[in-house]
Amino acid sequence: MPEPRVLLFVGSLLITAAVFQLLMAAKTHSRIGGVLGHTALPEDISIDTREYSQHIQDSPNPVRQNSSYPKEPFISGTVPSGFLWGTSTAAYQVEGGWNTSGKGESIWDHWAHQPGRTPLGDTACDSYHKYATDVQLGANLAMTAYRFSISWPRLLPDGTLAGGVNQAGVDYYNKLIDELIAHKMVPFVTMYHWDLPQALQTKYGGWTNASMVDYFNDYATLCFQKFGDRVKRWATFNEPWSFIVPGYGLGVSPPQMLFGMKRRQYEVAHVVIKAHARAWHTYNDSFRAQQGGEVGIVLGALWGQPRNTSDPRDVQAADNFEQFFLGWFANPIYGNGDYPDAMKQMINGDSAADPRLPVFTEAEKAYVRGAADFVGLNQYSAVLIYASDHTFPLDFISLVMPDLKGVKDTSDPTWPHGASSGFAASYVVPWNIREQLRYFSEKYSHKVPFYITETGISEKEQFPPNMNDTWRQCFYMLYVDEAIRAIKLDGRDVRGFFAWTLMDNIEWGSGHSVRLGLHYTNFSDPNLTRTPKASAKLYRDIATSGGFPEGAPHTKHTQDWWDWCHTNAPYNNNTETGAGHYRGPH
Ligand SMILES: *[C@@H]1O[C@H](CO)[C@@H](O)[C@H](O)[C@H]1NC(C)=O
Ligand SMILES: *[C@@H]1O[C@H](CO)[C@@H](O)[C@H](O)[C@H]1NC(C)=O
Ligand SMILES: *[C@@H]1O[C@H](CO)[C@@H](O)[C@H](O)[C@H]1NC(C)=O
Ligand SMILES: *[C@@H]1O[C@H](CO)[C@@H](O)[C@H](O)[C@H]1NC(C)=O
Ligand SMILES: *[C@@H]1O[C@H](CO)[C@@H](O)[C@H](O)[C@H]1NC(C)=O
Ligand SMILES: *[C@@H]1O[C@H](CO)[C@@H](O)[C@H](O)[C@H]1NC(C)=O
Ligand SMILES: *[C@@H]1O[C@H](CO)[C@@H](O)[C@H](O)[C@H]1NC(C)=O
Ligand SMILES: *[C@@H]1O[C@H](CO)[C@@H](O)[C@H](O)[C@H]1NC(C)=O
Ligand SMILES: *[C@@H]1O[C@H](CO)[C@@H](O)[C@H](O)[C@H]1NC(C)=O
Repeated sequence: MPEPRVLLFVGSLLITAAVFQLLMAAKTHSRIGGVLGHTALPEDISIDTREYSQHIQDSPNPVRQNSSYPKEPFISGTVPSGFLWGTSTAAYQVEGGWNTSGKGESIWDHWAHQPGRTPLGDTACDSYHKYATDVQLGANLAMTAYRFSISWPRLLPDGTLAGGVNQAGVDYYNKLIDELIAHKMVPFVTMYHWDLPQALQTKYGGWTNASMVDYFNDYATLCFQKFGDRVKRWATFNEPWSFIVPGYGLGVSPPQMLFGMKRRQYEVAHVVIKAHARAWHTYNDSFRAQQGGEVGIVLGALWGQPRNTSDPRDVQAADNFEQFFLGWFANPIYGNGDYPDAMKQMINGDSAADPRLPVFTEAEKAYVRGAADFVGLNQYSAVLIYASDHTFPLDFISLVMPDLKGVKDTSDPTWPHGASSGFAASYVVPWNIREQLRYFSEKYSHKVPFYITETGISEKEQFPPNMNDTWRQCFYMLYVDEAIRAIKLDGRDVRGFFAWTLMDNIEWGSGHSVRLGLHYTNFSDPNLTRTPKASAKLYRDIATSGGFPEGAPHTKHTQDWWDWCHTNAPYNNNTETGAGHYRGPH
């Protein structure tokens, strides 16, 4: 049974019972979270997944290829020198200080302060005051990079230059950046990780308004001016899909604009893509010569594996899925400057006179095309895709991509997964990294370096906490090895790997009930003490040695655990019990 607060939440949105079923199904099956910005759904919808899994088993055309493991052998090897090893965080999830020293309200602050909610982000991990502790944690892990986001309303309280710059905000980020550099970490800065100034939402409708391109450009310019002497890697947006579809399409996360699945979300994406391109051009024209940095975008990526790779219909369906999910943003920026053909046909095919998917002019295409120096991929997991015109089962795609026709998703029963709460069913599918990099490289003509800007796995909050997070050690063993495989075997230009996340934080609407940190954060302790989990040491060993060099103790350890990590054992018990019972690797 869903928890009462979930029912309340759904009731408040006037979503019908049928839609609620859809939401639950989508959340269960492939989480509107994780790839979709893990837990972009503001409420944690906890449900029993078994019934739904049964439903999938019974679905039409149940034949599936063995996609469990093209289980490849472990390979030793190291990354090129200069490779960035890092952790990622986002301002709302760690900073706290929500109304401190002149900061304006963000749409997430606003949402969290509605009746019936607990505004855990008010304090979060209190990184606003504990930034030096956090930087030390990164240094303890031997990280060479540290990804964080700037809170727009902390710099510009009402979102605009006219409303004034908050000097205390500038000072905060200066101190953080200086501290990072003093500890030999490269600051990797996201400008927009979903915390839009509430004033821009209230007054102008947020990203529905084309004038946001100008406001974002003013904000980005301010960032370049104030911090660009030391920050050389900028991401404009984090996972546009994950704030646009839940926020402006489904209306289940801030700013909760409902009924936008057929039109509004496309208009919003159009504005966001232009805002990204504008910021890139501003940097290229006015800052690059002096500052010599890179500007890119971070995209949420969920690898769509054809269920039957010998069936051209499944292969086409998987490609269509990729186009609607990744290609929506990647094709304009890294491809031909325009939306993917599959989207144009399926969305505008029936309404050429009144296109729901906006149309780029030729000048806009030229402006957007190639406007990025790198791509960041948040690469958590995969789905199995098959061609089907059936309307049942109600799956993730039916809910969140109603214009994507003839495509259904499922998962492989052998895929292990993380905690069944919030970040539910985060399937451990290491080879999704290599497949996604291959696809991106083959598909898009604008060749840029890759950063794996996020990946990670969750556990449920548990008392007492289990610091021996074997599931997370397995996760990073398998995923880092896959990144090494992509570099060594496929020659991909991957320049960094960032673990999500440095420490347990406020996982959007799931609060701290879902934890992805390399450090445990004690939210009962007024000091919010951070304690390293076992995975922190492993990740440090990997970073220090640049991967898995022959003969290193952690390389041997990874080889010893390899087979065990490829079974359900370290993960499933985590799901069922939330704590405790882990079998050893032998
Ligand atoms: C799937 O592949 C794995 C590894 O190649 C193999 O061990 C397993 O038996 C296969 N499962 C099925 C159902 O074919
Ligand atoms: C800031 O928010 C806290 C609640 O998190 C509240 O107690 C306090 O009064 C607020 N301070 C200001 C200056 O508004
Ligand atoms: C869009 O923003 C501008 C301010 O830049 C404002 O004048 C206009 O009213 C806004 N449009 C809507 C529909 O809110
Ligand atoms: C980027 O800036 C360089 C140097 O000013 C310029 O030559 C180039 O045309 C710019 N690129 C674009 C796409 O505007
Ligand atoms: C995969 O598709 C091919 C081509 O349609 C078909 O011959 C084959 O039987 C399918 N495999 C399975 C396991 O369904
Ligand atoms: C968390 O902090 C509380 C309060 O200081 C303390 O009682 C508890 O033992 C701590 N938990 C852990 C796991 O350290
Ligand atoms: C919190 O920090 C203060 C100052 O460092 C210290 O005196 C106190 O013992 C800490 N409390 C806990 C519960 O760790
Ligand atoms: C989970 O743990 C229980 C108790 O230790 C054990 O009996 C069971 O086999 C485990 N399940 C899996 C999938 O490892
Ligand atoms: C952590 O768990 C692994 C796997 O079960 C086990 O081999 C190891 O001894 C445990 N470590 C500690 C410190 O308990």
